[in-house]
Amino acid sequence: MSFFAINDGVLHAESVALTSVAEHFGTPAYVYSRAAIESSWQQFDSALKNQSHLICYAVKANSNIAVLNILARLGSGFDIVSAGELHRVLEAGGDPAKVVFSGVGKTVSEMQFALEKNIKCFNVESANELTRLNAVAAEMNRQAPVSLRVNPDVDANTHPYISTGLKENKFGIAFESAKDVYLQAAAMEHINIVGVDCHIGSQITELSPFRDALERVLILVDELAEENIHLTHLDIGGGLGINYQGETPPSAEDYAGAIMESLKGREMELIMEPGRSIVGNAGVLITTVEYLNETPYHNFAVVDAAMNDLIRPSLYSGWHDITRIFSDTDAAEKEYDVVGPVCETGDFLGKNRTLKLAQGDLLAIHSAGAYGFTMASNYNSRPRIPEIMVDGAIMHEIRKRESWGDLINGESLLPD
Ligand code: LLP
Repeated sequence: MSFFAINDGVLHAESVALTSVAEHFGTPAYVYSRAAIESSWQQFDSALKNQSHLICYAVKANSNIAVLNILARLGSGFDIVSAGELHRVLEAGGDPAKVVFSGVGKTVSEMQFALEKNIKCFNVESANELTRLNAVAAEMNRQAPVSLRVNPDVDANTHPYISTGLKENKFGIAFESAKDVYLQAAAMEHINIVGVDCHIGSQITELSPFRDALERVLILVDELAEENIHLTHLDIGGGLGINYQGETPPSAEDYAGAIMESLKGREMELIMEPGRSIVGNAGVLITTVEYLNETPYHNFAVVDAAMNDLIRPSLYSGWHDITRIFSDTDAAEKEYDVVGPVCETGDFLGKNRTLKLAQGDLLAIHSAGAYGFTMASNYNSRPRIPEIMVDGAIMHEIRKRESWGDLINGESLLPD
């Protein structure tokens, strides 16, 4: 079911016309659907009902505290990659006992903060990180719960920038070294081994890479059991893709089914870290056409959103559907590049789109709920845009548009 649908010729988020959102909050703006977020999370949860599990939503996909709070209320756990993300989870009412901490560069102070808050697990990505964590935990007289992130060396068939499970990637401990590092961990006084973890990439639209990764990880689990290292959980990471442009990724049910089948009834808690598949299609970016610039070579629609608001098209050649918010128009159909005002040729939101456009039209850029706002910047001194959460017929402003004051907040002039 789509929570973004056309009603009486106007695109709505749940029961709210996106024209009303534009009237109240201006454009550009991110608009999310609460029901869409809840529904995707529940699809994972119900697919796993016969398996001991914890869904740890990947905060980096969309870290607004209202989004985190909606998920915390459902009982979600969280996958974090910084102390800042942990701070957000706590502010949103998330349970630190359901937090896993991933990332290749955890600092001492991040480790201290996470240990203080008693998180569920550190997903340790290198032998040196393990040594540091043991020392930090020793100083605090704590035991650090640890899962090693292993790199299973499988090809996720996705964009190279978001592929993480190949041996040449910076992530995780090489598969062939993993057993040794576990043995080192077992000998460390302040490390408590609890699990194993892998994450092979993002926007994966087939099941086979997940199956392959899991197969390798399970070989390791069995080898460790022979060494008397018994793991209580297995974290398969995130990565399930969504439909941006007609892709047909497996459903949460098929994905969970395949993983449970590979687990073959092992008594381990299964952890998943989905990000994009929870929020990606639960958000749109609304924008106004400022100018139509039709040159002898190309038609450009210059809109008020730009690469600083949504960088996926520029950075990964990411494709986002672009549609009119009002269906009716007398405008002629033409092919446009939809571009922003930023002074970069790479500033585009969509190329070669067949659209009927007039200046002042409102457009929706779809599938923008994941890695949209969280990757936004102030480049070209553009204030970051508001985030609106629609809940049924109600609009909540869950982040205000930044002001010019916000733009220079923390900066200062040199003394006279
Ligand atoms: N767990 C770990 C350790 C991760 O690194 C990631 C994403 C996830 C979970 C969540 O993956 P997801 O379910 O969202 O695929 N900015 C890029 C995506 C980068 C993904 C980074 N890691 C994009 O816009 O496509």
